[in-house]
Amino acid sequence: MKVLLISGSLRERSLNTALLKAAGELLGDKATCEWASIGEVPLYNQDLDGEEKPAAVTRLKAQIENADALLIASPEYNYGIPGVLKNAIDWVSRPAFKSVLAHKKTLLLSASMSDMGGVRAQGQLKQVLAGTLTPILPAPEFAVGSAQNKFTDGTLTDDDTRQKLQRLLNDFLAWV
Ligand SMILES: Cc1cc2nc3c(=O)[nH]c(=O)nc-3n(C[C@H](O)[C@H](O)[C@H](O)COP(=O)(O)O)c2cc1C
Repeated sequence: MKVLLISGSLRERSLNTALLKAAGELLGDKATCEWASIGEVPLYNQDLDGEEKPAAVTRLKAQIENADALLIASPEYNYGIPGVLKNAIDWVSRPAFKSVLAHKKTLLLSASMSDMGGVRAQGQLKQVLAGTLTPILPAPEFAVGSAQNKFTDGTLTDDDTRQKLQRLLNDFLAWV
């Protein structure tokens, strides 16, 4: 199974990227993981969304198309979805209801430095992805709160979170 990892944070020491890295490790040999890079995707402009698209968009669309499933981990910025992630989703969301996102099974994760764990951004993401017909694993939100205390140098070191993530990934694999 091919899984595409999409982080909603561009920063190098991102906790969400670290969460995806942990998920990739926990998937082990049950999946082949590939990283998407949304940082090079330009700001959405419908004038540029013709037959020939910006290279970063074409690359991202192909990655999503080739994946069997998506894992998205996102921070919450000001109670919402980071602009970079929403921007990337908008680019790959066309043609409406027939895009590479349609029917692509997806697991949402979030990590945040607050106790809430970015759960509000996940709520918004679910709403946005409903608009692209992207099915989300039906499960309670997996939101890692106070994440700065659960990772050490980019590695998930909190055993409880690791065990819960493993269970969630098993459910996700079975669902996909
Ligand atoms: C612009 C900005 C807005 C933020 N807003 C929120 C917020 O609404 N809720 C929250 O839980 N954390 C918020 N934070 C803190 C993030 O949880 C924290 O920076 C987190 O580490 C970002 O994820 P990352 O490590 O993957 O980059 C915000 C951070 C930034 C930079």
